[in-house]
Amino acid sequence: MKGGGYYDANSSLQARLIQSAVPLFNNAVDSVSLPDGDEAFTIVDYGCGEGKNSLACIDMLINRIRQRNCDLDINVIQNDLWINDFNRLFSSLYSEYPDPRSYSGTSGSASTYFFASGRSFYDQIAANGSVHIGLSTSAVHWLGTIPDRSISKHIHLSGATALERRQLAHIAAEQWHAFLQHRSREIVPGGKLIVVMLGCGAEPALVNDSGLWTGETFTGENLMDLMFSVLTGLVAECHISADKLEKFAVPLYCRTTAEALLPLTDPASALAGTFKVDHLRVQVDPSPLFETYQRAGDSRAYATALIDWTRAWIEPLLTAGLFDPEETSATTWQQILEELYDRMSERIAISPEAYACNPIMLYLSLTRA
Ligand SMILES: C[S@@+](CC[C@H](N)C(=O)[O-])C[C@H]1O[C@@H](n2cnc3c(N)ncnc32)[C@H](O)[C@@H]1O
Repeated sequence: MKGGGYYDANSSLQARLIQSAVPLFNNAVDSVSLPDGDEAFTIVDYGCGEGKNSLACIDMLINRIRQRNCDLDINVIQNDLWINDFNRLFSSLYSEYPDPRSYSGTSGSASTYFFASGRSFYDQIAANGSVHIGLSTSAVHWLGTIPDRSISKHIHLSGATALERRQLAHIAAEQWHAFLQHRSREIVPGGKLIVVMLGCGAEPALVNDSGLWTGETFTGENLMDLMFSVLTGLVAECHISADKLEKFAVPLYCRTTAEALLPLTDPASALAGTFKVDHLRVQVDPSPLFETYQRAGDSRAYATALIDWTRAWIEPLLTAGLFDPEETSATTWQQILEELYDRMSERIAISPEAYACNPIMLYLSLTRA
């Protein structure tokens, strides 16, 4: 993600997804097993990002936990990759919530303690049996590294060939299994895991959705087609190397409900029976950016907002994947990226409806057996 506050400033869409998951969070807090005696209650946010959305979500959780037991000490582990802007996260924590004891409301003698973990969530993050609520929002669709040329004629899953899609599905299945396996070790019996991640619009239930589904199989499919087409033009004009573009792919995967369930329900899986499924659905959520456009009707402002949102999650990937620092100076690649965004903006402003980007999300809530 683009750091320095950029992600925080351009992630209202991800914030909206957390809002959609509030009933799941509330149910989880109301039914989670609380620790005995002096033991602290531990929450882990897997893939917390720069923190604005994460802190708001955790604040909500802590408030509700305190309603059940106001004397519980609470540990919060904010997990993300080591390259995440953790400085930003802690600066938001202490500026927006100056008294960490009262972060989320004071209560009795209890305190809240914050920790950062800069390790991949495809590894174990916390000690065995130490986590009461694990959550992850808009993060577990990110795969670790994928091989070069995983998607040779596009940059996104939507443009992968059938064979490439099967290969990505295989990588995604292994990583999802690893994610759940580590959580099964960390989360206490009766503990909860709530995951919000990109889903797949091939799910039949979406067709009956409340008019938000625009026919895309994957969130932002049209936007990614547009980006690929503009990048292809920049290759033709020799601003970007054809080889770099061919090697580059956005390492994300959008899961179906069946793919999400498989490691938990397949009798041959080592994880079968480790979690009870409390809730699973794929749904289309409204994009707050597109809603603003529908209210205000300003297609240029919409194009700018959509590009800012896109930059917040894709720019570090584009920079690392498309440019070689020994061949292209930072000033040059910044100019090339600005050109990319300008050309995309022009096209979005002409037909905003084609780029509504209503997110297709998978919501999953589990209880550790
Ligand atoms: C789109 S942001 C979501 C941030 C926040 N959870 C939210 O809902 O706004 C995705 C985050 O997942 C993190 N992430 C991706 N892969 C990860 C991994 N393997 N381990 C830990 N964090 C990861 C990214 O660094 C990024 O900060």
